[in-house]
Amino acid sequence: MIKLTQLATAVAMVVAANAAMAGEVEVLHWWTAGGEAKSAAELKKIMQSKGHTWKDFAVAGGGGDNAMTVLKSRVVAGNPPAAAQIKGPAIQEWASEGVLANLDSVAKAEKWDSLLPKVVADVMKYKGNYVAAPVNVHRVNWMWANAAVLKKAGVAGAPKTWDEFFAAAEKVKKAGLIPVAHGGQNWQDFTTFESVALGVGGAGFYNDAFVKLDKKALTSATMSKALETFRKVKSYTDAAAPGRDWNLATAMVIQEKAAFQFMGDWAKGEFTAANKVPGKDYICAAAPGTANAFTFNVDSFAMFKLKDAAAQKAQADLAAAIMGTEFQEVFNLNKGSIPVRLNMDMAKFDDCAKLSSKDFVATSKAGGLVPSIAHEMAVPPAVSGAMKDAVSQFWNNDKMSVADGVKSIAKAAATK
Ligand code: BGC
Repeated sequence: MIKLTQLATAVAMVVAANAAMAGEVEVLHWWTAGGEAKSAAELKKIMQSKGHTWKDFAVAGGGGDNAMTVLKSRVVAGNPPAAAQIKGPAIQEWASEGVLANLDSVAKAEKWDSLLPKVVADVMKYKGNYVAAPVNVHRVNWMWANAAVLKKAGVAGAPKTWDEFFAAAEKVKKAGLIPVAHGGQNWQDFTTFESVALGVGGAGFYNDAFVKLDKKALTSATMSKALETFRKVKSYTDAAAPGRDWNLATAMVIQEKAAFQFMGDWAKGEFTAANKVPGKDYICAAAPGTANAFTFNVDSFAMFKLKDAAAQKAQADLAAAIMGTEFQEVFNLNKGSIPVRLNMDMAKFDDCAKLSSKDFVATSKAGGLVPSIAHEMAVPPAVSGAMKDAVSQFWNNDKMSVADGVKSIAKAAATK
C-alpha cells in the first residue's frame, strides 16, 4: 500500500510540475462594455482553470482604434503583450514586421485547418503559418429595434427596404421618440455607412467599392445614392449623438427611448446582459435591403513572440482554448456573435444567432458574403482609416454636397 508520505511527495511533484509550466498571459483587447466584458471574463476563467495567470490589458474605445495605438507603442518599446486583438489585413502587417509567433504546432494538434472556413483560416496565416487564433464571426449589417417602441409608433415589424425604413422613422418621430440611436464617432458613422451602401447597392457594388476599391464604383451614381440615404438616416438621429459610445446608443434602444440602431451584433451582447429576449423585447433584422448579404467581422488574437518558456506555454494554451468548443460556445453566447469553429452545436443560441449562422453559410455559397470595411476586414488600416475620416466629414457637415462627399471618399480610398 502506498504510504501517506509517498503520496504527499507525489502530489507535491505534480503541483510543482504544473506550477513550473504555469505562465502569465497578458491579453490586449477593447472589450469593456457590459456584454463584451462578460465575454472576456470567460476566457480569463478558462486560462485560470489551466493554472495560468491572466493579465488584463483592456483599452476602452469601441472599434479598437485606441487599443491599436497603445499596442504600437508597446511593441516599439520591445515589450509586446502575449496576445492582442488584431483583425483582418492588419494581421499580415504585424506578421511582416517579424514580431508574431508561429502557432502551427497548436493549430496542427487541434486540427484548425479542418475546423475553420478557408476564408477565415487564410486571414489567420502569414506565408502559410498560423499567427493568430479566431474567436468568432460578428455580422455587421444588423438593424436592432425595440418592439414596444415600434408598437407605440404603429410600425408593423422591421422595415425591409429603405423606403419602408424612412416611413417607419417618420412614425417614430411623430410618436415623440428618437428614430435612430447613434453614437457620432467615426467608426460608428462608418459602420452605418457600410450597411447603407450595402442596402442601396447590393453585395456586388459593395465588393467593387469597398474591397476592390474600384474607382468606377466609388464614383458611381450608386455611391451618390448611398450618401444621400446615409444623410437622410442622420436626420433621424438626436442632437446628443456626437461622441456618444455605441453601447450607450444600444441602451437607448433597450430603454425604449429610441427605435432603431445600426450596429454589429456585439450590440446583442448588451441586450443579453440586460436580460432582453429577441423576438419579444427587441428585433434583430438585416439592415434594409441587405437580407441576402452578410458583412463579416472576425475577431482574432494575434500572438507575439515571447522569450520565457512558461509564458510560451501559457500562450499556446490560450490559442488552443480560443478554438476549443467550451470557449467558442460560452464566449459567443455572451458576445452576440456566432462561433467561428465549424459544426458547433447551436442549441443554446438564440434566434438572432441562428439566423446569422444560416445566413453566413447561405451567403458564402450564393456570393453575398463580404468583409466589413468599417471593422478592418477588407482593406489595410491606412486605407480604411482615411475612408472612415472622409465618411465622418460628410456625416458631420450637412453643407457638404454629395458630389464632394463622393470625391473625398474616393480620394481617401486611393491612400497608399
Ligand atoms: C469588434 C467587436 C467589438 C466592437 C465594439 C468591433 O470592431 O470586432 O468585438 O465588440 O468593435 O467595440
